[in-house]
Amino acid sequence: MKKILFTLILIFSLILIANPQVQPAQPPAGPPPGIQNQKPAAPDVFITTGTKSVDLIFRVNGRDGRLYQAYFGKKLANTESLKQSRDAGHPAYATFGTDNLFEPAIRAVHNDGNPSLELKYVSQSFETGTGGSSAVLNKILLKDPEYPFEVTLFIKTFPDEDVIEQWAEIKHTEKKPVTIYNYASSMLHFDAEQYWLTQFHGDWAEEMKMAESQLTAGIKILDTKLGTRAHMYQTPVFMLSLNGKSDEASGEVLAGTLGWSGNFRFLFEIDEKGSLRVISGINPFASEYSLEPGKIFKTPSMIFTYSAAGKGQASRNLHRWAQKYGVLDGTGSRLTLLNNWEATGFNFDEKKLTAILDETKLLGVDLFLLDDGWFANKYPRNNDRAGLGDWQENKAKLPNGLGYLVKEADNKGVKFGIWIEPEMVNPKSELYENHPDWILKLPNRPEHYYRNQLVLDLTNPKVQEFVFNTVDGMLTKNPGIAFIKWDCNRMMTNTYSPYLKDKQSHVYIDYVNNLYNILDRLRQKYPKLPIMLCSGGGGRVDYGALKYFTEFWASDNTDALERIYIQWGYSYFFPAVSVCNHVTSWGKQSLKFRTDVAMMGKMGFDIQVNEMTENELKFCQNAVTSYKRLNDVILHGDLYRIVSPYEENRAVMMYVNEAKSKAVLFGYILNARYGENFNRIRLQGLDPAKTYKIQEINVLTEGRRFGPSESGRSYTGDYLMNVGLNIGSATPLSSVVYEITE
Ligand code: DGJ
Repeated sequence: MKKILFTLILIFSLILIANPQVQPAQPPAGPPPGIQNQKPAAPDVFITTGTKSVDLIFRVNGRDGRLYQAYFGKKLANTESLKQSRDAGHPAYATFGTDNLFEPAIRAVHNDGNPSLELKYVSQSFETGTGGSSAVLNKILLKDPEYPFEVTLFIKTFPDEDVIEQWAEIKHTEKKPVTIYNYASSMLHFDAEQYWLTQFHGDWAEEMKMAESQLTAGIKILDTKLGTRAHMYQTPVFMLSLNGKSDEASGEVLAGTLGWSGNFRFLFEIDEKGSLRVISGINPFASEYSLEPGKIFKTPSMIFTYSAAGKGQASRNLHRWAQKYGVLDGTGSRLTLLNNWEATGFNFDEKKLTAILDETKLLGVDLFLLDDGWFANKYPRNNDRAGLGDWQENKAKLPNGLGYLVKEADNKGVKFGIWIEPEMVNPKSELYENHPDWILKLPNRPEHYYRNQLVLDLTNPKVQEFVFNTVDGMLTKNPGIAFIKWDCNRMMTNTYSPYLKDKQSHVYIDYVNNLYNILDRLRQKYPKLPIMLCSGGGGRVDYGALKYFTEFWASDNTDALERIYIQWGYSYFFPAVSVCNHVTSWGKQSLKFRTDVAMMGKMGFDIQVNEMTENELKFCQNAVTSYKRLNDVILHGDLYRIVSPYEENRAVMMYVNEAKSKAVLFGYILNARYGENFNRIRLQGLDPAKTYKIQEINVLTEGRRFGPSESGRSYTGDYLMNVGLNIGSATPLSSVVYEITE
């Protein structure tokens, strides 16, 4: 026994010398509740990870060898008191089958049928500078003492952005496969007086509705079971306020999102002592995974930030992180565009499209995006009931092929982009006729459609090849294609993979991982090509996908009033550079209102330019010019949500560049009741010592619809942030945009 004790102390001391992040507690903490009778085995070991304002500290309890979360929250001035504490903390990655009575992070049944898992700390290491960033990647290895089964926890901390990414790798070398039933990406614990959960939910055309509620004892789950996408009804994001509700500028908040484009689950469980555990990861529902010996099961990343200064700061942290690491080319610029979906639907031909290319130029945007309906011959894609899967140009509509349009676009000085939906198939298609075994559908039940289509079985390598070749073939044949809109218009129902045979419970996970494999291959060949992620509206956005996509379609609902709420919701987690907003004819608001709303992200148009009046065209052209001047501030600046549309008949938000020399403020009156008084608002994020000039942009050429303009005035940042501006109007659905320049 003494020998073992000595060896353990020696090992810990060696780790200490090799790694300054691991610090022993002096003196060792007392036993945690429940294990009082065990003898002391080794000093506790502390593993400190964190960012510039946050600490996430783990303790290896010397008495039981398990890993605990000792602390997560605002950075501590020093960790000495924590080391004195008798409380070990909460299990960092709770297992099931031994003494855990609450929801586990992991559950496995060994190949001998034993349903228990024990994980003891083995070692830890860390790397800095991964991928050229200032991130620190901590790895903590845990092993079952009785079985060759191990879990490595990865904690990647981004110091400057105050963001943490966490995931796990699960592996074993047992003789036969081991079934894993739960496999969380992260498990976080909180001890607060109150927990307030903000969730973002909705449906097609009503994405990202916010709802806040207080958590009570027991379990609350946010999840989806959609297969091909993460969100549609629930979104894979949440905000959790501790010790009471938080607002934009104050309160303790955890903002979390899972980087996974399939079924997800966030589980919040408050135990009998009022402690909260938050378990995040792939939804384990109907997804037990048979893990072969030697294979690694890697969970997706849980991405989270903690802010002690409210939700606004949490969003800005995520935006900064996303621009640098979360979104493909997130620090780059974006192409403005004219799309033809709303304007023509499926009803177009070469002549009509050539005319739209002229309108693209006239409008002043960079690119024309040809949407759905350009392909399939035996079953032409003239509506959404046929043709999906047959990716050859429709000869009647495009007799000279895509190549002609790409060339015409080039001749007219604009770029050309194209819509595809390569994971799907209509039953009325040659693809369906030729490859019925490439489709996810139950063999003995009627087919179940959503938008008249079915999902291809991406677990099948032949299908993976087909999808890759569809995209690659199109780009190889038409190297001038400068943009892709990648759509995905249904979820999985009646799901059965002919390829997976007796491993049907793998389908949800293997689908997403193989989609990522295809995207990996495409990105190796086309690293920077802008691709918009789209899914029957905005139901597919998440940071698992955004690594491959430059932007996403936020919603099919482009009514500008609705859009304010939708974009407001997305803004909590996704930066403006990734959110595509188009000016369309959906809403009844003025063209100005619709344009102003579309400007708060990546701006595009999907409108009949040839039906615009001269004044309307001029207005849009000016807006495009202003946008090109200001888009860097909007797309990459810091966002301040100043007045919430959920709280007033008004919405105000502003973007400020890093140097605090330029800002753009957007103000909207959603409704104006008789005598309604809109209070003066205080701006945020400016430099108090600087003087700023206010210039109104997107001014209507005829008639004014907003209250007195501040245009032309100069104020100090101090004044703007303490006294503020009047952003009010008696006209419902009116708006104002101010360019604010040092
Ligand atoms: C759904 C998308 O959200 C729309 O923008 C459009 O591309 C259609 N699909 C085309 O079928």
